[in-house]
Amino acid sequence: MMHRVLRLKPARRISHYLKKLAPGVFLQEFCATPGTIGSICPSSRFLANRLAREVAHHQDGLIIELGPGTGVVTRALLRQGIPPERLLVVEYSNTFVQRLRKQFPHVNVVHGNAADLCQIVPQNAKVAAIVSSLPLCSMPEPLMESILDQWRYLLDDRGTAVQFTYNLHRPKWHKHVQARQTGSSTVWANLPPAKVFTFSFHTTKLTSHEHPAPEHSC
Ligand SMILES: C[S@@+](CC[C@H](N)C(=O)[O-])C[C@H]1O[C@@H](n2cnc3c(N)ncnc32)[C@H](O)[C@@H]1O
Repeated sequence: MMHRVLRLKPARRISHYLKKLAPGVFLQEFCATPGTIGSICPSSRFLANRLAREVAHHQDGLIIELGPGTGVVTRALLRQGIPPERLLVVEYSNTFVQRLRKQFPHVNVVHGNAADLCQIVPQNAKVAAIVSSLPLCSMPEPLMESILDQWRYLLDDRGTAVQFTYNLHRPKWHKHVQARQTGSSTVWANLPPAKVFTFSFHTTKLTSHEHPAPEHSC
């Protein structure tokens, strides 16, 4: 009996330790709410770096990250030299939020819903870019449209939006973006491979007369 307990304890400790690692936490969250997480494991460093590089040229204004999960893209953004004070990250899962706040004490980590972005962003803040890992494909269409509407409203003429997808063809949300696509590339070194789309709202920016503020006024 004693022999069995002694063998169990290290096994439990190892299992506890594994669950605390990013892929373990991620998988646990995926099992709890697969539709919200949208992936069984965090993005690779290659995908994270690709996303971060797309927005690193913006010299001022907020960089908003949507759906940071365990923070692989957040880390890549910081590695690109973006100061933590310029980052605003919005995450839906409380488990991820607690981890992110410990990992990135100088980054503003908001526990919230990307669908309320206009309410979350401080009034009059200039938004330079939105980097999104949101599982837009698995969202109900009205929710997805409301999120994209708010991107259009928040990004000024020079703003960039970056979104990745596991659908290597044209994902269903693509036609709802209503922005100029400025780039697309495939990152094969990811599980599964992902396509990164970059958008500029430069030519589609509407006046507030033509396009009233989305429901959650900015
Ligand atoms: C595919 S995971 C990406 C995680 C991480 N960025 C990465 O690349 O490994 C999607 C993330 O979006 C978050 N998420 C899903 N819906 C959300 C929403 N409406 N608002 C904020 N975050 C959301 C999930 O909790 C999850 O962390």
